[in-house]
Amino acid sequence: MGFSTIAIHAGNEPDPATGAVSVPIYQTSTYAQDALGKHKGYEYARTQNPTRSALEKNIAALENAKFGFAFASGMAAIDTTLKLVKSGDHVILGDNTYGGTFRLFNRILVDYGIEFDLADTSDVANLESAFKPNTKMVFVETPTNPIMTLTDLKAVSDLAHSRGAKVVCDNTFMSPYFQRPIDLGVDIVVHSTTKYLNGHSDSVGGFVALNDEKDAEWIGFVQNGIGAILSPMDSFLVLRGTKTLAVRMDAHDRNGRVVANFLAEHPRVEKVYYPGLTSHPQHELAKRQQTGFGGMVSFETGSLDNARKVLEGVKLCTLGESLGGVESLISHPASMTHASVPEEKRDALGITDGLVRISVGIEDVEDIIADLDQALR
Ligand SMILES: Cc1ncc(COP(=O)(O)O)c(C=O)c1O
Repeated sequence: MGFSTIAIHAGNEPDPATGAVSVPIYQTSTYAQDALGKHKGYEYARTQNPTRSALEKNIAALENAKFGFAFASGMAAIDTTLKLVKSGDHVILGDNTYGGTFRLFNRILVDYGIEFDLADTSDVANLESAFKPNTKMVFVETPTNPIMTLTDLKAVSDLAHSRGAKVVCDNTFMSPYFQRPIDLGVDIVVHSTTKYLNGHSDSVGGFVALNDEKDAEWIGFVQNGIGAILSPMDSFLVLRGTKTLAVRMDAHDRNGRVVANFLAEHPRVEKVYYPGLTSHPQHELAKRQQTGFGGMVSFETGSLDNARKVLEGVKLCTLGESLGGVESLISHPASMTHASVPEEKRDALGITDGLVRISVGIEDVEDIIADLDQALR
């Protein structure tokens, strides 16, 4: 079956009680039991909820995974995934992941005995030397936020597996429509559903998809144990979002390409980061590993002052954190999403004070360009 057919039908069976075509919001905390130990498969809503189960089936199918779990946020999904490693284990973390992921390792997990090292995973050779005898996991994001650096998922998976480590990929930027990490050998996919999967900037959520039964059992156990679940209302919203994922992603991709090309030609822009540009150093890998380039574009304005003028000068684009919604959002990674990354590390990565990131929405692209142009000028 094709992607859109799966997106619309997986998990979306008509409601058994009423025939409702749209999965209802089962806004309940518990379920009546017929007799002691006799129930309909639902006991307590932290453990099971039909709206959440429908979403879990849906996104697992889109990622071509056997198991899926919907979480209260992307960070809850990532934190739960990291409960697959134990005190004394070592994790290799891509050096340009979302700032909150770095903060989770750097400020929280270190106090629980999880060792980690950063590695530039854009070159598999760098990764090779980062392995230690106790390395149990490699965690990557591709393309990275906000510099749009790619990691070759197949090469990294082959190497990690030869060293007995699992690979986790944060697939938030591409969504399963443009990139399916499990098909490339990755063990576990994580998402912030807050972004493209929901797509309408009206829900915070996260997701874990995987094939290994034992790991899935543990993820489900931890999810229930710590209670990091997605609510019925949010599950409904994300389930509604994924039905249009394909058409939205095609529109983001179309607009993203036009905006990236416009910025690349603009006299006030020093550099553009977008894997769809032929000038991007990993353009060939992007074409091979992804089926589109998406709507995330970053660009260098040269200084904080210039960046401020653009960020405060836009009228259509909204200044704000987050990405992946239908509306264009513009942000300043150094002071917003990546403020928790130390300054010297930001500088080394290219997350300068002059860097601006735009999540290109699906408005008419001429309007987005006109807005950016007037702000740049
Ligand atoms: C790539 C990526 N992963 C994870 C997260 C965290 O997700 P959430 O904000 O839903 O907790 C974000 C948030 O911006 C993100 O951009």
